[in-house]
Amino acid sequence: MMLVMRIFDDVERVGQLCKSLEPVIGKLKAKSLWNTYLASDWKQRQELEQYIQLISTKILNKNPGESKILLNPPSKEAATGEFYLGQIVYNDKELYPLSLREEDFIKDIVIVATTGEGKTNTGMVFALELLQKNVPFIIVDWKRGWRALYSLDKKDYPQLNNLLTFTIGRQVVPFAWNPFRAPPGINYKTWLAVICEVLEKSHISGQGVAHVIMNIYEKKYKELGFDVLLEPKQYPNFFDGLKEMESDKKRSYARELQWRQSTVRILKSFTFGPHSICFNSRNPIKLEELLDKPVVFELDQELPKPVRTFFMELLLRWVHLYRLSQGESEKLRHVLFFEEAHNLFPQNKYEKESTNSIENIYREIRSTGQGLVSITQHSSLLPQYVAGNSHCQITLALQHEDDIRASKKALFLEEGQEVYLDKLKIGEGLVKIKGRIPACLVKFPLVPVRKGEITDEYIKKIMAGYLTDLRAKSRRDSRIEPIYPGANSNDSAIVNEFLLDIENNPISTTVKRYERLGLNHKTGNEIKYRFMQDGSIKDKEIITKQGKIVLLDLTLKGKEYLRNLGYKVSPTLNGLEHRFWKHKIAEYYKSKGYKVSVEEVINGRPA
Ligand SMILES: Nc1ncnc2c1ncn2[C@@H]1O[C@H](COP(=O)(O)OP(=O)(O)O)[C@@H](O)[C@H]1O
Ligand SMILES: [Mg+2]
Repeated sequence: MMLVMRIFDDVERVGQLCKSLEPVIGKLKAKSLWNTYLASDWKQRQELEQYIQLISTKILNKNPGESKILLNPPSKEAATGEFYLGQIVYNDKELYPLSLREEDFIKDIVIVATTGEGKTNTGMVFALELLQKNVPFIIVDWKRGWRALYSLDKKDYPQLNNLLTFTIGRQVVPFAWNPFRAPPGINYKTWLAVICEVLEKSHISGQGVAHVIMNIYEKKYKELGFDVLLEPKQYPNFFDGLKEMESDKKRSYARELQWRQSTVRILKSFTFGPHSICFNSRNPIKLEELLDKPVVFELDQELPKPVRTFFMELLLRWVHLYRLSQGESEKLRHVLFFEEAHNLFPQNKYEKESTNSIENIYREIRSTGQGLVSITQHSSLLPQYVAGNSHCQITLALQHEDDIRASKKALFLEEGQEVYLDKLKIGEGLVKIKGRIPACLVKFPLVPVRKGEITDEYIKKIMAGYLTDLRAKSRRDSRIEPIYPGANSNDSAIVNEFLLDIENNPISTTVKRYERLGLNHKTGNEIKYRFMQDGSIKDKEIITKQGKIVLLDLTLKGKEYLRNLGYKVSPTLNGLEHRFWKHKIAEYYKSKGYKVSVEEVINGRPA
């Protein structure tokens, strides 16, 4: 048995050697060498093996036992395409470029590597190619890494000026969205079922919660006229669900009580904290209007993981249904990039069996011209239909045994070649494209971004123009009626932010306030007057030596409005004037070098 195994190993090793000689001595010669070997008896074989080993040491620079990466390169023609990816390498030599084609994007791409091995960089290589060819995309960024693209030279990439970045969960550039807005043409009931299914995975909720949520929101959608009106006045949001749960005091059975508690927990995850703006807008950003632009969605680290997962999956589902309603296309319309893509897939066995709709999405979306790039550090966490069936596999260095095993299978590597996956250097990867490129070694260019250079202020500035247009448009489109006290003709993010800024920075001049919010004087005043008219804020004149200062203060109504949006609002302790002078006095002493602490609590933190 041992001997047979050994012979088998020898034969396999010599076979691989002959194959790896092909690109250098020619296919014919290598084949005949191999055939001769096979036709020889045991003794001759040993001699031949020595001979073959000798030539490969000489020309491939490969010592016996050393596992240099030698994967036969595809032909130059096969490697051509529109989107440059990197240089094919064989035997330490860079041969020629490998490029992707439209169809490769459409049929889905997976990038796998251990953290720090160059996944994001490779993704950026793609994104820049798409940018230059005006193919729009959305990137879901989990680590605030993609904003570095702005640090590139705009002379080389003028299209970077069009790149939009939204900070999901933070006030920098909030994304005033509402998951309850279905893709155009999709029935609200269908969409509601999708939301429930996504919650089931992201928030590990069960069927019971789905049942409760379906009940609440079917009723809510109906109330808002979704059954009869083509364009209802406004969308429901997560606050509606909470209100409904609070008002519905009927007695529940123990099991139902548990469902209801879980439902409240889930609803609260979307209404509590700064990210509530992103998930509850009554006049939401229309996703379809972003689908013809290059966009980065930066998920904040502080955003609870279930909420991040929910955002990513619902986005995928939204785009999927939207594309289906648009019909089939062989042209590349748009590309979605998902970092940390393994979060899209069920992890435990129970979930794996119970839901397979992501699998359907990955299959169906292909026919619609929608590209998908899944980026992950764990190929072993990807289900077989993604890891094994994805059209284009890009694997950079891997460490974990499970991941190496999964990728070996996905790349169709031969026995023994899996060590390559551990040998890859930073910036190198194995690329396999179904039907065109068998696994081969590729060196990717380094995108010369300067990490850490792009600040929040920079992003704010670059987005200011776009946001001004968007707000103007949303005011024009707005059919929204006030629902909370204080909400006027629309409650898009900036309006909420305006109130929040008054809460957080009570002692601020109007000019400074507008500056912080990125508002010009005119828009700022418009919002201010609207809130003054409906009694959410009031102004207070303070006479100082230098002249008159006007400060803004929230009324009880304004505070109630913010509370409704999930913000912690401090109770009014003293009059604004009192606070102002205390602040001034403290400032005075601080400027004289004293350490001052004001007795009052501002924003829930000691000032
Ligand atoms: N093609 C490359 N050539 C040279 N260095 C690279 C290349 N790709 C990545 N790197 C280096 O590796 C670092 C990590 O890359 P990154 O793309 O952020 O990895 P990941 O997303 O896998 O964590 C980069 O900052 C860069 O210094
Ligand atoms: Mg990364």
